[in-house]
Amino acid sequence: MCIPPKTQIAAFDVASWEVDAEFGVFPQGARAKDAVFAPDSPPEPVIIPGRRYLFKRSRQNYPDQFWAEVVAYRIGCLLGVEVPPAFAAWNSNTKICASLIEWFYVDGQETFMWGGEFLQQMRPEFDRKRGSLHNLKDISALMRLWTRLKILHTDWRQWWVDALLFDALIGNTDRHQDNWGFVFRPDSIRLSPLFDNGTSLGHERLTEKVAQWSNADMDRYIKRGCHHLKWSMDEPTLTKRHLNLLRKALSEWPQTRQTAKQRMDFSEMELAKAFDDLTELDVPVCFSVERRSFMLRLLRRRHELLKELLNEYPATHY
Ligand SMILES: Nc1ncnc2c1ncn2[C@@H]1O[C@H](COP(=O)(O)OP(=O)(O)OP(=O)(O)O)[C@@H](O)[C@H]1O
Ligand SMILES: [Mg+2]
Repeated sequence: MCIPPKTQIAAFDVASWEVDAEFGVFPQGARAKDAVFAPDSPPEPVIIPGRRYLFKRSRQNYPDQFWAEVVAYRIGCLLGVEVPPAFAAWNSNTKICASLIEWFYVDGQETFMWGGEFLQQMRPEFDRKRGSLHNLKDISALMRLWTRLKILHTDWRQWWVDALLFDALIGNTDRHQDNWGFVFRPDSIRLSPLFDNGTSLGHERLTEKVAQWSNADMDRYIKRGCHHLKWSMDEPTLTKRHLNLLRKALSEWPQTRQTAKQRMDFSEMELAKAFDDLTELDVPVCFSVERRSFMLRLLRRRHELLKELLNEYPATHY
């Protein structure tokens, strides 16, 4: 299932890259970011000449958070789910470090619209700031309608199970209504790649503290993890827990289980190798060995729990 990741030899210095003056005019989201254009002769072949990239910083309290975005991209590749390529970057003039994220649609040919725009049209009381009405039942109604009208060309049930699986594996708590959406072409609509994955992988924990954690501490932390989405407005909030929400989606859409299982079919060694090169990259805020170890420990345990969950039912139930 794996998608070969785009990897880098050195951190990208964007000091001389052209800044997209228009991007700052309509900033969306919580973290400081700029959009920049790659030069015509990029430093490495994984960078697309002239393409727009997001230079997305960490939250102030967590200077190394941007690495979570880069690691999440590598994990997406391991699962074979579409995540915009993310690299480590910095600006040598300002010394600011950030992730550098490939723009996922082509300007002029496609446009992007957040899921929240449509959910708000369905329920005018939808609060875009908190997203407390964000739920999969409403989303399903929208997807079914667009599929019937033959304008949505994505297997949306599989897309959502893949998203929930990916989010549960990285422990992403931030898949709110504006962290997914639709890419529009003149004659069709598809679901976007999974962007904005940096609120994950235990980025908010200090490595000195978590180094002391027992396995029971790890499990307590993992089990508390919640998705932003609920299953429906009338489900108990327990279905927001990563594993519970995925279990619910798999039971409602059993045809998605087989692909989900295949996505989890990688070894501990492959998991470790998926992002072990990143500690070598030389930037002012580096990816420390301790940060890498903690992320790997979390990922290993979540991988184990997800495989158990996916094997809960016999194959004949699919
Ligand atoms: N790779 C990309 N290609 C195109 N547009 C993108 C990409 N990544 C992000 N965007 C756009 O930029 C917006 C802000 O980016 P993003 O969601 O990553 O930032 P954020 O500050 O972390 O947001 P949040 O408040 O959700 O945590 C997105 O809502 C989306 O419209
Ligand atoms: Mg966002």
